Order: sequence, then C-alpha cells, then structure tokens
Amino acid sequence: MNALNRDLKKLTTWLEELKGQCVKEDPYCLTFHLMPKVGWLNDPNGLCHYNGEYHVFFQYAPFDAKGGAKFWGHYTSIDMINWQDEGTALYADQPFDCHGVYSGSALIEDGKMYLYYTGNVKEMGDYDYIIKGRQHNTVLAVSEDGRTFKHKQLLMTNADYPENMTAHIRDPKVWKENDTYYMVQGARDKEDVGQILVFASSDKVNWKVINTLRSSEKFGYMWECPDLFELDGDTVLMLSPQGIEAEGIKYQNIYQSGYYFLKGDFKTSNYTLGQFEELDRGFDFYAPQTFIDEKGRRILIGWMGLPDIDDLYSNPTVAYGWQHALTLPRELQIKDGKLIQKPVIEIEALRQNEQEWAVKDTLKVEAPKTFEIDLKVDLLKDDFELIIKKGMYLTYKKAEGLFTLAFDGCGYGRDKRSVKIDVLRNLRLFVDTSSVEVFLNDGEEVFSSRFYPEADERSIELRGHSLEGKLTLWEMKAM
Ligand code: FRU
Repeated sequence: MNALNRDLKKLTTWLEELKGQCVKEDPYCLTFHLMPKVGWLNDPNGLCHYNGEYHVFFQYAPFDAKGGAKFWGHYTSIDMINWQDEGTALYADQPFDCHGVYSGSALIEDGKMYLYYTGNVKEMGDYDYIIKGRQHNTVLAVSEDGRTFKHKQLLMTNADYPENMTAHIRDPKVWKENDTYYMVQGARDKEDVGQILVFASSDKVNWKVINTLRSSEKFGYMWECPDLFELDGDTVLMLSPQGIEAEGIKYQNIYQSGYYFLKGDFKTSNYTLGQFEELDRGFDFYAPQTFIDEKGRRILIGWMGLPDIDDLYSNPTVAYGWQHALTLPRELQIKDGKLIQKPVIEIEALRQNEQEWAVKDTLKVEAPKTFEIDLKVDLLKDDFELIIKKGMYLTYKKAEGLFTLAFDGCGYGRDKRSVKIDVLRNLRLFVDTSSVEVFLNDGEEVFSSRFYPEADERSIELRGHSLEGKLTLWEMKAM
C-alpha cells in the first residue's frame, strides 16, 4: 500500500461514515439492490465466484454523486442475497490509472483472483479542463484472498494496440479456453467505427492482438464493455455500442446494450455477426457483464443507469448524496434462438406475505412498499393495463402486440418505452423503492428502470377486458 493509497482509503472511509447516514435517510434508498454507500456507481466489474463467495466489484466514485475519478467498490455474498460491503478494492493511485480504475473483469485460476482493468489517464493541456490525449492502459491486479490487491502491473499501453485505433480501447474481459487466455476489449478506430479487439496470451501477462470483431456495416462509433461466451451451444458477443440512432421503438436510450450471435471462429476473420438484439428495453440499463458460478450458471448483472445523462433526466437521489444501482443478478439461457434473462432463483428467498388473486378483468389491491408480482395470463382477448403506485403504467395492446412501460412525473423525464410481443403469457415485476424490473414471457423481454413514486402510494390496479389469470404478490424483504 503506498502513501496515496493509504490517504485515499482514509478519505473514502471518512466520507462513507460522514455521508452514509444521509444516503440511508433517502426514502428512495434501495432495499434489495446493490447501490453505492455514498456517491456514484456505474458498471459492474470483476464479477466472479471465488472460494465459495460471489464477488461484485463496481465503478465507484465516492466523492461526488455526479461522478468523478473511478475506483472499484466491492461487495461479496455467499448466496447473492446477503451482501457484505468490502470497502474499496482498487484506488486510482498509480501513474497508469491516475484518472480512473476503469472497467474490467476477473479470471480465477490456481486459487488466485486476477483482475484486469483499464487504467485511465487523461493527458491535460495548459488548462486543466482541456484533455489533449488519453492513455487507456491494460492493467492486472492479483489477489490471493479476494480482498487485498497488493500489486498492480501495467500490461499494455496505447502503443501496444493496433495503429489504426484511437486511444479509446477499454474494458478487458478475460477467460481461458484450453491452454490459451483470451481477452476482448471495446474499441473505436480512427474512422470512428466501434469494434472489439481480441487478444490472446499463453501466460496471462503477455498479450497479442489476434483479431478484430466488427459488424458488416458500421454500428456506432464506440463499442464498450464487451463480453464473449458460449451458451447452450451458441457463441454470444455482448457489447454496449455508442452512436446508434433511434429506429422506431428500437435504440431509444442514449447508448445501447445488446448482443450478437457470432457464427464461425472469433479468433480469425472467419466469423460473421448476426442481428444486433437489445438486451433490455427499459430506461436505465447499460454495461452488463456475465460470469459463470460454481453451479455452472451464466449470470448477468447490469448497471441500472446510463452515462452522459443531463440533470433533467436524472435521479433525485443526488440530493441525498448517491446515484445509481445494479440490476438483480439474472440467469441467462438460450431459448428458440433468443437470449432470455431470469432473476436468479435465490431472489425468491426474499419473498414474504404471499397473496394470490384469481383475475377476472379488473383488480385493485394495496401493495407493500417493495414487492414482486407474478401475473399469469390464461386468457386475453383485449388490451390490459397494470397501474403501479398511480405513476407507472404497464400496458399491452393486444391487436398491435405492443407492450409499453410508461411513467408520469414519477419517471423524472422518463416517458415510455415499448416492445413487440405477439402473445403475452406472463409478466414478472420487481418493484424496489425507486426501481422496477419487468420480465415478460419468462424473460424473453426485460425492462429495467428507475422511478420515484410518492413514498406512501401503495395502489396496484389492473384494468382488463376479457382477461383471465392469476396474480401473485409478495412483499420483498430488504437484503
Ligand atoms: C461504461 C464505461 C466504460 C469505462 C467506465 C468508466 O459505462 O464508460 O467504458 O471503463 O464506464 O467508468
């Protein structure tokens, strides 16, 4: 631990104690989602299952709820519902990461945890607000206990990336296949085409670029936070592209997150990318990362937020000194050629006070403050609308096969988002104090969003015509 590191640790801990209480007093403080103790949170990082514990690191800027130099915050859990705050794991304390320990991933091998991340360095001009250049360094930090990271090693810097790239190369995701280690990094080339660089290594330390993955036609100027994995016999390339224009009900957020099925060989030019599919249709979802746990499940966690959003479309939590959260962990599967997402089964342990109703057209009930709803639709001949806490509207238009999530003032500028869904069979909804995750048809489509209802508002109203089914409601315990 160097002197700067020691001081940053003192300062962060002091701030968490000083301002942590204010965060806890926020009525919108989440009860069953991971959020920062104070300040700002973005991407999930270094997700892994190590020595029987789940580790979730995340982009953490404790000094300012609107962002700042990024560190890695750290939570651990043995069951994905009881989480332990482990403090800050990595600080921006080296010349090669002094403007931020940016996003990255974990590789577990020989009882050690290897964290790969991007060391962000802004080269400043004469005035400290003019950025002349940028280094995006690939850095490795190793731990033998999953909690202390004694040494950081600089592995690659701008000069090690291909000539035709800008300095925007970041977010290494690393895995091992046979005897070779692979790494994908998000990239932007000098012609402003977003793409992925694929690296290989035989020793985890010395890396060589072996391939570039791009779509046949330009799809955005930058691809962030890539992930590449095999699932149920398919190769999935996940990424967060920037610079995509909205197209009807598609690509409505400032930046997107989605996936391609990759056919062929990701290691050579002998590959093709299929159609880009959005992972989540809500207002607040970005930079997801996946990992495999000891049960062999492929689990995804995303950032329930987006970068570069102005204050108008923001979060009132800033007044209480914090901003943003992570999604619930979701298990991924492939079904009928589509990636589906389901909240991990462990979340069901948070259910209590179950209530159930047979639904016939309409229903009006009182909800607890935080809850899960499972609506099974047996018969639906017409439209229906589910209104939560008077400000969130979930509507399904049968003739158009269109599902919409909409907010009034409690959306803070979030208005509506839709998706086409031919036959709606079921809907699962997780409502925390200021967030919602909607899973349609067992996870075929998902909407993740923040929203800010009146603290005492508890109503749930279902308005349907020719609707028959069953609605189950559980109160959700705090984690
Ligand atoms: C995505 C991202 C990453 C970067 C990190 C910095 O949200 O921009 O590309 O590493 O956030 O916090």
